[in-house]
This record gives sequence, C-alpha cells and structure tokens, in this order.
Amino acid sequence: MCGIFGYCGQQRAAPIIIEGLKRLEYRGYDSFGIAVADRNITVRKKEGRISQGMPNIPRLKGTTGIGHTRWATHGIPSDGNAHPHLDCHGAIAVVHNGIIQNYASLKRELEERGHTFSSDTDTEVIPHLLEEEFKGDLAAAVAAILPRLEGSYAILAIAEGHREIIAARCRSPLVLGIGDRASLAASDVNPLLEHTERVIFLEDGDIAAMSAEKIRIWHEGTPVERPVSRIDWSVEEVKKGGFPHYMLKEIYEQPEVFSSTIRALKEEEPPEIVNGIRGVTIVACGTSYHAALLFRYLVEAHCGFPARVELASEFKYTSPPKGDLVIGVSQSGETADTLAAIQKASMSGHPTLAVTNVLGSTITRIADDTLFMRAGPEISVAATKSFIAELAVFSHLVDLMSGGVLGKDLPRVHLAISEALLVDLSPAVELCRDAGSMFFVGRGPYFPLALEGALKMKEITYIHAEGYAAGEIKHGPFALLSAETPVVALCPPDDAYPVMFSNIREMKARGTPMIVVGVSGNRDLRDVADVFISLPEGSSLFHILGSTTVMQLLAYRTAVALGRDIDQPRNLAKSVTVE
Ligand code: G6P
Repeated sequence: MCGIFGYCGQQRAAPIIIEGLKRLEYRGYDSFGIAVADRNITVRKKEGRISQGMPNIPRLKGTTGIGHTRWATHGIPSDGNAHPHLDCHGAIAVVHNGIIQNYASLKRELEERGHTFSSDTDTEVIPHLLEEEFKGDLAAAVAAILPRLEGSYAILAIAEGHREIIAARCRSPLVLGIGDRASLAASDVNPLLEHTERVIFLEDGDIAAMSAEKIRIWHEGTPVERPVSRIDWSVEEVKKGGFPHYMLKEIYEQPEVFSSTIRALKEEEPPEIVNGIRGVTIVACGTSYHAALLFRYLVEAHCGFPARVELASEFKYTSPPKGDLVIGVSQSGETADTLAAIQKASMSGHPTLAVTNVLGSTITRIADDTLFMRAGPEISVAATKSFIAELAVFSHLVDLMSGGVLGKDLPRVHLAISEALLVDLSPAVELCRDAGSMFFVGRGPYFPLALEGALKMKEITYIHAEGYAAGEIKHGPFALLSAETPVVALCPPDDAYPVMFSNIREMKARGTPMIVVGVSGNRDLRDVADVFISLPEGSSLFHILGSTTVMQLLAYRTAVALGRDIDQPRNLAKSVTVE
C-alpha cells in the first residue's frame, strides 16, 4: 500500500530511485513521483505506472532523492495527489506510506496560518508542518512534528541544499540499506538487494538521518544502535527469470517452496509456545485467511483440540477463548488488520505466534514467537507460493502438535504440485473465459480451497467468482446456476466423495458447465463433468496441494486469455497497511 524509496550516495539518485520504485510497484501503482535535492528540489510526478515511464527523470541531477509509488487512500489518483509533496516554498519534499488520521484538523490549522495546499492527500500536512519547524536541522524538525501525527507512517523527507534523507516510521514498514558509500531506504528489502545485503529494520518511533557516509538513528530523542541484518534473498529471485509474469514464476517455484519450508522448520527448535496448548485462534486476511481455514481442518482432525479462525479485520469484535494460542498469518507481516489483531491478542494476555515470510517485518516484533515460511520474495499481487508456504508451515505445526501424524508424507508431498503443473487446462479455460460469474465448491478442507480458487479467479480475471461449501450451494446460489455460470468442483476421493458426487450431479442437472477436479481413473466423474481435471492419487495433503495449483493455473491461464494485467490487477495492492 504505497512504496517508498530513497537514495543518498555518490551517484545520480534519479535512475536508482526509478529502479527501486519499479520493484515496489506491486504495493501501489496508480501514480508515482520523485524528488531530488540539489541546490533546489526538483519534483517529477504523474498519474499512471512507473513502468510506463516518464521522460527526463533519469537525467535529473542530484545524489539525494526520494520516490513514491501510490495506492490512493486520500484523494483520487492524479498528478497533483501523487507524492512527493512539498511545503509552500518547495524547499522540503516528503513521501509517505500510511494514513495521517488527524490530517483534516491539521490542514485546517495550517491553512488558518496561511499555508497553501495543492493536493487532497493526508500526506501534504507533513511538509507544511516541517516548514514551520525547519531551522536548518531537518531531523530535529521531523522529531518536533511527529508527536502531532496520529495514524501510521513511513516517511522520507529531504530539504534543498541538504545531502541527507530523514526517515521515520510508526506502524508502516521501512527498511534502511547500507550500501557502498550510499544509504538507502525502502518499504521492503526487495529493491535494496541490488545495492546491499546489509539492512536495518527501523522500530516504531525511530528517526534516522541518512547520508552517503553513515546512518544515525534516534528513539525518543536518544541515539540508538539497531542491529544490521543480512538478507540472503538474491537479486535473481526478485526478477522474472524468463517467465512472462511473476505469478507464473511463483507458481512454478511452489514445489521447492513447500519442501524448503519443511526442511528449514525441521532443522529449527520447535517454538516453545506451542507446548501444552489446548486451543488455537488464527487471524489473517485474504489468501492467508484461506490457508488458516484449511489449518483448522488439519488441527481438528489430527491434534484433538479446537481451532477457530477469524478474519483479522473482524477480530476486534470477538473474544478468543482464554488460554488460546493466537496465531497471526501474514505473508508480508505488515497487513494492518492482522497486526492490530495480534496486538489486541497480546494485550488480552494470549500467547501469540506469527507465521510470516518476511524477516524483520512488523508482525515478528509484535508476536511472542515467529515461524518463517521460506517462499522467497513474492512479487505478484495475487498470492500463490506464499499460500503453499503457509500450508507447509501449518503441516509442520500439525505434525509437531499431533506427535508426527503427517511426518512420513511431508518430504514427498510437494510432488503433487509438480504433477499439477503438467495438467492441460485449455478446455477449462475455454469454459471460464466467457463466464460472467463462477462458483468454486468443495467440502471439508476443500471448502477453503474453493474460497481461494474463487479469490484467485476474481482478482486477476475480474470474473465474479464465489467460493462455497458444496452443501450450501442449494441454499440460494442454485438460483444463479445456468449455462453461463461454470462451477469448479473439487472432488477428491475422501469421506465426502459420495455426497460431493451427488452435489455435482444436482448442479449439472441445472445446465451448469461443470469443471471437476478429481483423481485419475474416476470414470463417474469423467462422465458427469464437462471438463474433468485428473490428478494422480495420493494422500489428502497431496491432493490439496495439487488442487490448489490447478486452481491457481486456471485463474492465471484465464487471465492470460482475457489479456488482463496479471501481476498488478486493478485497484489491488500486495500489502494492505491500512485498516
Ligand atoms: C492483500 C493481498 C492478498 C493477501 C492479503 C493478505 O489483500 O492482495 O494477496 O492475501 O493482502 O496479505 P498478507 O501479507 O497479510 O498475507
């Protein structure tokens, strides 16, 4: 939800910032901008995507600069609302990720004191506040105004004639990079990897002054040292590697992601926090929520205690049972709703565990303990390999909490994904591409998978798709079934098979085109289906992973057929850092 990038070094800042912003574009892509400080500040900003380019930016002089790629919250996407924003004299420039909740009253005050605003954004109050405090020391001015800001922010600020970037964070991600005679700042580590593997994760309340030579950090006015972390993700991992889209690359990485996550977790000490627990509540959003729903089935089937799953955004209206371990699942570790839920759980005395993909992310600091998935950088907005990595973490946890019930399966189960990558989906894509509306149905653990299949389909093809528990489809959705409403039915050979088979026939009797995912050799399913997608036989987890991959690829191939913008679907952002 907005990406920010700053560079202060020996080279021209502008081209470096542009490349950095391109790697952050998945966080927001409705407009972008850059400011470079030389004797004066020069700003270039524009509605649209940075990848569509803007002539002349790379030629800007100046070795200190900041940039921003936006996902609009306050004010429509437009040239004027794009960041950076300036004070009245154009002498201070600011980029910001987050939301200043009290901006309206601050803006009124500032206008009464004669400031002129040129955007509808909340951010613009920051440079105007800085203008009032700036007496030559920008870090001091930032420290003076931060207590007035309510909400969340990661801020980068520059001033004309100064070769320094001032960075501050509060509940929005910000990482600093230590380069070769350069300092960098970004919303996540991906764009820093080109320059350095040494990074510093700022804490909430930190202010940093970054120059080409050094980084100084203060917390509540006192100088502090923050640890320097080494990131072992490679630059190659954040590039497309010959695939037409990141999403496809990330789907193909899944077998390795599952097995390396399991391998790495097995080598670690099991988190003490799971010892002796009698119940879990899992909180998450989007795809991570679907992975959590699936976890619930595994826990209740194998561990003998209850598991509740809550949408993180709804968690504040509920109360988990006393003593429950509260697990927050977030690929990015920065989703505001999930962070708020974990914070609430901690404050009400629950032990908390984070499951995330990102070292140093905010959730790792809020939760008592963390389990890392090993998905590597996920760039496509539609989450795929992180879902598989979350399933790997959950499988490992279930194994730990059940005394090893899945153990034998885990080293081989990722082969299901490799098999699913080979399936020919062309007939299914033909059925989906012209659909106005679709349903995905399943029972038991395949119900959350149906939700996830529908989410993938809607977010990248823009076809309206709903996931349903197969048993519920006759309680309403039947009214919508027609020859124009294909249904994807997940029908593995498990206990639910007989009733699932009946559900498929009932839907088929309404003239609905049926795409059925089952195991090879099942003649009954082949006969009833319009398109039968067969997967090899295997354990339940094996079939779950295979079915997931089929649905991801079905959404992907349909989106390709429709010519959609796959990695950056309209209106979405990869990391939603506002509640
Ligand atoms: C956004 C993304 C989804 C993601 C969700 C939760 O909505 O577009 O793909 O599943 O956030 O993200 P998290 O990083 O918390 O898993």
